[in-house]
Amino acid sequence: MADEKDKLKVVGTRVIRTDAFDKVTGRTRYSADVNAVGQLFGSVLHSEYPHAEILEIDTSEVERLEGVRAVVTREDIPGAKYFGGVIPNQTVFAVDKVRYYGDGISAVAADTPELAEAAKLLIKVKYKPLPVLSDAREGLRADAPKVFPEGNLCKHHKVRKGNVEKGFAEADLIIEREYSTQRIEHSYLEPEAVVAELSEDGGIKIIGSIQNLFSARRAVASVLNLPLNKVRLIQAPLGGSFGGKDEAVTVLFCRAALLAIKCGRPIKLVNSREDSFRESYKRHPYFMRYKAGVKSDGTFTAMEIDITADAGAYASMSPFVTWRSVVQATGPYRVPNVKTDVRAVYTNNNYTGAMRGFGSPQVNFAVESFIDEIAEELGINPLELRLKNAFVDGDITATGQKLNHKVSLGEALKTIAERSDFVSKWETSRKSSSRDVRKGIGISCSYRGVSLGAEGTDAASVLVSIQSDGSVIVETGLVDMGQGAATAISIIVAEGLGIDIEKIHFLNADTSRVPDSGPTVASRTTIMAGNAAKNACEILNERIKRVVSGEKDLGFEEKVAICFREGISLYAVGHYKSPKTTWDEENGYGDAYFTFVYGANISEVEVDMRTGKAKVDKFYAIHDVGRVVSLSGAEGQVYGGVAMGMGYALLEDFHQTDGIPDFKNFDEYLLTTAADIPKMEVEFLQNPDKAGPYGAKSLGEPSTEIVAPAIANAVYNATGKRIRNLPLTLERVLIGRELVRPSKRGSEIARGEK
Ligand code: MOS
Repeated sequence: MADEKDKLKVVGTRVIRTDAFDKVTGRTRYSADVNAVGQLFGSVLHSEYPHAEILEIDTSEVERLEGVRAVVTREDIPGAKYFGGVIPNQTVFAVDKVRYYGDGISAVAADTPELAEAAKLLIKVKYKPLPVLSDAREGLRADAPKVFPEGNLCKHHKVRKGNVEKGFAEADLIIEREYSTQRIEHSYLEPEAVVAELSEDGGIKIIGSIQNLFSARRAVASVLNLPLNKVRLIQAPLGGSFGGKDEAVTVLFCRAALLAIKCGRPIKLVNSREDSFRESYKRHPYFMRYKAGVKSDGTFTAMEIDITADAGAYASMSPFVTWRSVVQATGPYRVPNVKTDVRAVYTNNNYTGAMRGFGSPQVNFAVESFIDEIAEELGINPLELRLKNAFVDGDITATGQKLNHKVSLGEALKTIAERSDFVSKWETSRKSSSRDVRKGIGISCSYRGVSLGAEGTDAASVLVSIQSDGSVIVETGLVDMGQGAATAISIIVAEGLGIDIEKIHFLNADTSRVPDSGPTVASRTTIMAGNAAKNACEILNERIKRVVSGEKDLGFEEKVAICFREGISLYAVGHYKSPKTTWDEENGYGDAYFTFVYGANISEVEVDMRTGKAKVDKFYAIHDVGRVVSLSGAEGQVYGGVAMGMGYALLEDFHQTDGIPDFKNFDEYLLTTAADIPKMEVEFLQNPDKAGPYGAKSLGEPSTEIVAPAIANAVYNATGKRIRNLPLTLERVLIGRELVRPSKRGSEIARGEK
C-alpha cells in the first residue's frame, strides 16, 4: 500500500469543496428556502407539561377560524401511532399522554405562518399532570414515576471478560471514581424545516433537512400507511446535523404529511430555534462509576464499570448509543478482566439520541480522566501509563475481539507527545506559572469502532453515471450534511475514473432514485460510500476497457464517446457490504466492529485562579484515518470537532429543571465561538486499512470524542483540581461545585410562558 500512495492523483490532495461556491455566495437553497405552489404553513402545539395524561383535546374553536385550513391530532393518523427505528415508542402526536415538554399534541395549517402560530393556541387541551421523573438514576426505583407502563429501563447492555473478582484480588491498588457528563444540544445553525406535498400517484413527496432518509421514510410510510415506493423523501442541503436531524425531522415529516393529506395542499413546516430547542433530542447525560485494579508497575488487572444513561422520553437511538459505550468503556487498554454494565433509563426529559460521538464522548471523558487519576496514585506520568497499557497489534479488546489491523495507538501517542513536548511541560508547567494564572497540559487517546458494527446491517450503494460528454453524475443514499461527503465521494470517483473532480456532479439523496444505503452515521460515509463508489468505477472501467482495448492514447472523453456509439451503458451501481461482525448480547462479548481508528489529543490550558476561567491555549490532535481522502476536508473535520469538544468540556449544559429546559435559545445556552478557538496543530497517520477505499477509515466522530478529557486533564495539571463532572464551569474550577445554575432564570421564563 505504501507504493499506492505515490500513484494516487486526487486522493489525499487539497481540493475545493464541491459545495463551497454555492454556500459562500448564498446560492444554496436550504430546506427553509424551498416553497411549493399553493403552500400553507404549519405550526405545532407542544405540551404544557413534561408528564401528563391527556383527557381531552378540543379543536372546534380553531377550526372555525378564517384562514385556518386544517387541524390534525392523534385522530388523523391513518397508520401506526408510534414510530422509532429500534423500539417504536415515539409519538407523532401524543396518544394517551405526554412524556416530555417537547411532545406535540396537534398541528395547524393556515394561510400564513403567523396565523398558524396564533391559531394553535386556541386548541384546548385538558391534562392530568403526572409526577415527573427527571433523574435517570432514580428511574429504576420501584416508586419512580413510570414513563412507560412496562417500566423505565430502555436498554441494558453488558460486557463480560474474565473474572473481575480474581482481577481485583491480584491488584496492588484498587481505585474507584465517579464521573458525570451533561446533556447538550447539537446546535446546528439551521433549525429543522420540511415541505410536504401530495404526489399524483397517491403518494407523498417531502423535501427536508434530513440526515437519514431511509429510516425517516420507514417511519413516514408506517404512520401514513403507505408502501415505501409511494413515500418520496428528498434531502435538501443541510445546515449542520451532527447526528441531530434524524427523529427530530422524521416527526416533522409525519406532521407535515398529515396536514398535507388533510387539506390537500402543500405544507411548509419550519421550526423556530425555540421549537428546535424544545423538541429536538440531545446528547445523553451519563452517570459513570469506574473501578480499576492495577499492579504497582501500572499493569491493569481488572475494570468494573457501571453506567446510567438518561434516555429521556423515547428510545430513539439510546439502545445503539449505549451499545457503543459498553463496547468502548474501558478505553483502548489491555484489561484482562472486565465487567461493564450500561443502562439507558427513560425519564421525562428531552429524549436523547444520536450526536457526533454516539456514546463515546461520555465514556472517553470518564476513562481518560480515570487513567490520569490512576497514574497520579501510582506516581507514573500519564503518557507512560497509557503507553504501558495501550493496545498493540493483535491485542484482545474488552469484548474479546482480536485486533487484526495496524494498531497505531502507540505511534499516535508518541508522535503527539513529542510534537507538544508533553512530558517536560506536564512536569514543570504548574511550578513555572504565576500564582494567579496557571498553565497546564493534558493528554487523552481513544480507539473507536468504525461504522455501525454489530449494531446493524452495514452496506451501501453508489450510482455513477457517465454522460456522453464525459461529465459524471454521482448519487447515493448517504448524505452530505455539511461534513463534506459530497467532496470525499467525488474525490474517490475522480481517482477511480482517472478524471478531474470538476467533471463530477454529486446529487443530494432522493429515496425514490437511490438504493437504501443505511444511515449517514457512525463516521461510515467515507468508508462505506467510498468503497461502493470505487466499486462502481471499477465496473465502468472494465466496460470501457473492453470496448476501447485496441486503441491507445485515448482521453477519457474519447473513450466515453466510443462507448456511447457502441451502445455500452456507462451507468453503474457500485455496492459494498462490510466484513462480518458479531455480538452476543446475552453474554456480553463479540467482534463488535470490523476495524478501528486510533487518535490522541493534547490540550494546553491557562487557568485564571481568580475567576476559574480555563482557556485553551493550544490544541494538538493526531488521528490515524487509514488514508486521508480530502486533506482540507480532514483538517476541517478536526478543527470543527475540537471546537465542538471544547464546548462540551467548558461551556455547554442543556440543563432541565423538573423536565423543563432551562434554555429557550442561544442567548442563554453557552457555546464555543470563534473567539475561543486556540491555535490547533492537526496531524494524520496513514496506515491504510484493508477494508477501506484506498485504505481510508473514519474521522468525523473521532475528532470530537477525546477533547474534553484532554482539557480536564490539563486543568488538573494546572490547578491540582480534578473535576469529574462536565462542563468545567468557572464555579467548578474555582470552588469545585456549582453555586448558581444559569437555569433559574430560564426555567421561570419557560414556565411563565404558555
Ligand atoms: Mo451519528 S451521531 O452516528 O449521526
